[in-house]
Amino acid sequence: MIRIAAVYGSPRRNQNSDLLMSKVLEGIGSDNTIVTKIYASSPDIQHCNSCSRCFKEAQCIIKDDMQDIYTTFDKADIVITATPVYFNTVTSHLKKLIDRCQAVWASRYVLTESRIIERRPRLGFVICTAGPQQEEEYFDCTIKTLDIFHKCLNARITGKLVLSNVDNVHAKDNEAALKEAVREGKKLRKMIDEIKKLK
Ligand SMILES: Cc1cc2nc3c(=O)[nH]c(=O)nc-3n(C[C@H](O)[C@H](O)[C@H](O)COP(=O)(O)O)c2cc1C
Repeated sequence: MIRIAAVYGSPRRNQNSDLLMSKVLEGIGSDNTIVTKIYASSPDIQHCNSCSRCFKEAQCIIKDDMQDIYTTFDKADIVITATPVYFNTVTSHLKKLIDRCQAVWASRYVLTESRIIERRPRLGFVICTAGPQQEEEYFDCTIKTLDIFHKCLNARITGKLVLSNVDNVHAKDNEAALKEAVREGKKLRKMIDEIKKLK
């Protein structure tokens, strides 16, 4: 079974970044696949308040929806994160979730035991959308944030999809982008199938 953690960063449902996520998932296909959707804007996720308890206890003491989300990441073979660019980075909803992964980081690098998320290789993929027309490099800031998040989850980013100008041309009307998203999903499927075969 292939388990996918699909992280939705936009507070808007079924809009540009969500749609691209659904096309990547379509490309991956549903055979032997379990997708767990994580909407960063909807669950009960509190802020990391830097209490540093995770430096001592290999867990986050805040008992909210993050506890299930840690489990979803732990089980995942692929982590896909989609976010609109907000002020040159991920949405605040997603950033809150990312910051709570400090507990994952601390258990690994401070306590040197990966008790929250098992340290096994996972695949990663990122999707970013931007309002006005932008050059590809424009997304670098956002990708850097997503990169450290995925690294923390041991999910090596194997590909990315960036789409700008969505405030003028919605992704649903951008046939080329939708096709590219499906293609990227198929590539991910091929990669994960090969990895699973090797096991
Ligand atoms: C609070 C806020 C900040 C934004 N900041 C940027 C930005 O810095 N750069 C940019 O290109 N677009 C920016 N946008 C536009 C969004 O990136 C664009 O509307 C988004 O990609 C749409 O994604 P969605 O349809 O999945 O919600 C911003 C939008 C909002 C609401």
